[in-house]
Parts: sequence; C-alpha cells; structure tokens
Amino acid sequence: MNNAGIIGMGHAYPSGVLTNADLERIVDTSDEWIQTRTGIKQRHKAAEGEYTSQFGTKAAQQALDKAGLNAEDIEIIVCATTTPDQIMPSTGALIQAQIGATNAAGMDVFATCSGFLYGITMVESMIRTGQIKHALVIGAEVLTKYVDYTDRSTCVIFSDGAGAAVLAPVEAGKGILATKIRSDGRFEEHLYAPGGGTKLGTTYATIDNRDHFFKMKGNELFKIAVRSMAEISKEMLDKAGYTIADVDLVIPHQANQRITDAVASRLNIPEEKIFSNIAEHGNTSSASIPIAIDECLQSGKIKQGDLVLLTAFGGGVTWGATLIRF
Ligand code: UT7
Repeated sequence: MNNAGIIGMGHAYPSGVLTNADLERIVDTSDEWIQTRTGIKQRHKAAEGEYTSQFGTKAAQQALDKAGLNAEDIEIIVCATTTPDQIMPSTGALIQAQIGATNAAGMDVFATCSGFLYGITMVESMIRTGQIKHALVIGAEVLTKYVDYTDRSTCVIFSDGAGAAVLAPVEAGKGILATKIRSDGRFEEHLYAPGGGTKLGTTYATIDNRDHFFKMKGNELFKIAVRSMAEISKEMLDKAGYTIADVDLVIPHQANQRITDAVASRLNIPEEKIFSNIAEHGNTSSASIPIAIDECLQSGKIKQGDLVLLTAFGGGVTWGATLIRF
C-alpha cells in the first residue's frame, strides 16, 4: 500500500477585482461592516466570457509543471465545483480536454466548499490501493456568476478562483495520513440555488424569483460551520492518533474571518498556526483550500515534514477534515 501525497500545486484567479468600495456603490453596505463581519477587503470577479474550466485549467497546468509530469500521465481528474461551466459535460472533462489529459477520466464532485477534501479523499484510496498512480484534484469556482448583487449578505463574501493538486504515491509516513468527510442534506435550504434543476426548472417565474442565484441563511450556517469543522478535526486527529499540538499549520476553508477565528478558539490553536488569506481573496468555496496550500508552499509557510490539517464546511451542508504530512 502506498500513501498518496501532493507532489505539485497551482492556482489561478481572474484578473478582475471587486473591492468593498465597489460593493458600497452596488448594495446598501459599507467597507467597515464587511471588514468587521467577514475580514474581506476585496474579492476576485470573472469578466463576461470567463468561465470556471479556464481557471481550473490554468491551475492544473501549473500543478503538472511543479510535479514534473505531463497531462498524459494523469489517470483521473476530479474537479470540485458548484459553479460548473454548464450542466454537462462535467467541468472535469472540459479541463481534461483543455490540458490534453488523454489517458484520464474527468469528473466533477459537487460538494460545495468541502469539494476539494471530498476529491482528495476519493483519489487517496485509489492511489493507496494501487488502482491508479497519478491524479489531479481541482477546486474551481466562478461564484460571482451565481451571486445575486441585490442580496447584500451573499454578494460581499463570494469570489472566484481555482486551485489544483497533483496526487501520487509518496514515501511511507508522508502524504495523506487521515481524512474524513460528512454531509447533512437536511440543511438544504441554508445555502442553495433552487432554480434551473429538474425540480423547478427554468421558467419566467423562477427567473423573476431570482431562484437561479444563491440564497443563504448566513447566520445559521455560521454556527454549524464552526461546530462541524472543530468536531470533525478532533475526531479525525483522534482516530489517526494525533493531537492538535502535533499540527504545524491549520488551513481552514476561507468562509469568513470570524469563522476561522472561532474554529481556532474551539481547537485551541494559536493565531500564527491558522492560515488566512480571506482579506485579499474572499470566499472561493472549493478553491479556497488548494489556493491556500499553494500560497503556503510558495511562501515557505509549509515546509517539508510539516503536519498540516485541512478543514472545510459548505452548503449541503458538507464538511470534512484531512491530515497531510508534507
Ligand atoms: O462558504 C461556506 C458557507 N458559507 C458560510 O459559511 C457563510 C457563513 N455566514 C457568514 O459569513 C455571515 O453570516 C454573513 C457574512 C453572511 C453575515 O454576517 P452576520 O454577522 O451573520 O450578519 P447577520 O446575517 O446576522 O445580519 C446582521 C445584520 C442584519 O441587519 P439587522 O437585521 O440586524 O438590522 C443584516 O441585514 O447585518 C445586516 N447585513 C448587512 N449590513 C451591511 C447583512 N449583510 C450586510 C452587509 N452590509 N453586507
């Protein structure tokens, strides 16, 4: 049995930026409210004509370069996204075509902000059991195209971007040491986009009702998010025989700075051990964790041998935690 580890990462954003000052001109909000309640100063926004697979492709190509592999070496591409280019084919298959991964199976995992952890949990066992050798797991989102710019509680947090990881067998003791994912569909209406599917379809009524946009009960999600990420992190660490004191760095999904602070407090983690880049990038859903890992590798915040805890929470609701030795 081989451990599966990350051997290359990449990330990409659209060049467009939406600042808090820009939002002050669109909805009834203020820079002061957004910074105090979310920690966000700006977010990325795709232009008309830009779409999810383009950013996933850029991130995937960087990850392949870092891993020293060709696209043909990849056997599976799992794209975590809630904002696909279109309902079919999958964004994973579209990225496969764009990078030329002719020997791969491309697919999507639809698990909102926890999608990247769902993806690496799936391919980890495929690599560990020897079924495949090389996988690409991508988190890619263009959330701003699903955001209702008349709804001040969602439009201030969501952003666009993509992060990608190449996974492959690594030496014993390294790579993914433990991982756990969960969902609870009973909280469906805490964050959802009801229109456009087989239930409501797309009609003049769904469009008038703005059902194709995200609708969110932010405050209720906030509490479940903090509790879920803290609990699953503890459960996963316990099961794997580690404690929070063993962990060098925690990278949580970048949902809201106050959620990150509350998770740190529940897990008893000092500020310098929990990563945040939400001020500059906003909430990029499934892309936030792979983007953060890549930034930490590039800046030297993650060093070889470090034990890193990833934890995520999102609409569905979904949540998860993964422990990686770099
Ligand atoms: O990515 C994973 C899934 N998503 C999340 O985990 C998101 C979790 N939730 C959040 O990040 C926060 O709940 C929000 C940022 C969405 C909202 O912050 P909050 O502190 O929970 O605000 P709230 O919804 O409790 O609203 C408090 C007040 C309300 O006014 P009243 O009723 O007290 O007069 C809102 O109308 O703040 C108002 N408000 C705003 N005011 C200015 C809500 N959004 C805004 C805004 N600007 N953008």
